[in-house]
Amino acid sequence: MKKKLVVLSGAGVSAESGFATFRDTGGLWEQYNVNDVASIEGWYRNRKLVLDFYNERRLQLRDASPNAAHLAIAALEKDYDVDVITQNVDNLHERAGSTRVLHLHGELTKVRPENGEYDLDGSEKEVIDIGYEKVVLGDLAPNGCQLRPHIVFFGEAVPKIEKAISLVQEADIMLIVGTSLQVYPAAGLYRYAKFETPVYIIDPASVPVSDPRIVHIKDVATKGMEKFIEMLGNS
Ligand code: OAD
Repeated sequence: MKKKLVVLSGAGVSAESGFATFRDTGGLWEQYNVNDVASIEGWYRNRKLVLDFYNERRLQLRDASPNAAHLAIAALEKDYDVDVITQNVDNLHERAGSTRVLHLHGELTKVRPENGEYDLDGSEKEVIDIGYEKVVLGDLAPNGCQLRPHIVFFGEAVPKIEKAISLVQEADIMLIVGTSLQVYPAAGLYRYAKFETPVYIIDPASVPVSDPRIVHIKDVATKGMEKFIEMLGNS
């Protein structure tokens, strides 16, 4: 039986595909006020600003490609039972070939009605795949409500966290790539791994956690994945 490998990824895994991260120097949260474009209060204050922000991200995604780190994660499926939990709203893991990807913070290529059922029970019934199209004020869902990005805004619940926790609990190996581990509940997920499960972190910056299980591969995602795969081979 294949070992279960659970990957938690963040913005850093897509950095080498040309996407700015959020909190690094020059990152998105230096250019935009997070409370304006990524919070539920921001949405109700100025929907157009929020729609424009995600329209721009969606276009950028259309023109981007998965990098060697996304491809290496997908290729691990040959030898491991892999689940990817990503905080990223891009679809680069899927485009690289990963077959099980759980999007904790939503997906750029999807929208849903505001005030829909999702807000009550996290049900995906009303979620609509729009690909790389724009959404503007006045674009309505079948329930008559304005369409909003299918993104978990700050101030909102994270409906998929329970599923993510149960995946981490089953992990034989955990790999964390390119996340500052600043945003909860995602940042606390690794703590649900079994005590004997090794936790690898690939990040060029120092990591804000100290846990004897953690092996820090201090490198960018593409190079770090090469080192990680070498370590797996030697373990
Ligand atoms: P951050 O921007 O907070 O962190 C990015 C991490 O990637 C940092 O630790 C960097 O050191 C690292 N990094 C930078 N370049 C890298 C590279 N080439 N290879 C590997 N790592 C690299 O992004 P997240 O932790 O993903 O949520 O942010 C978490 C959440 O905060 C996001 O999902 C988003 C944001 O606000 C929402 O918008 C809901």
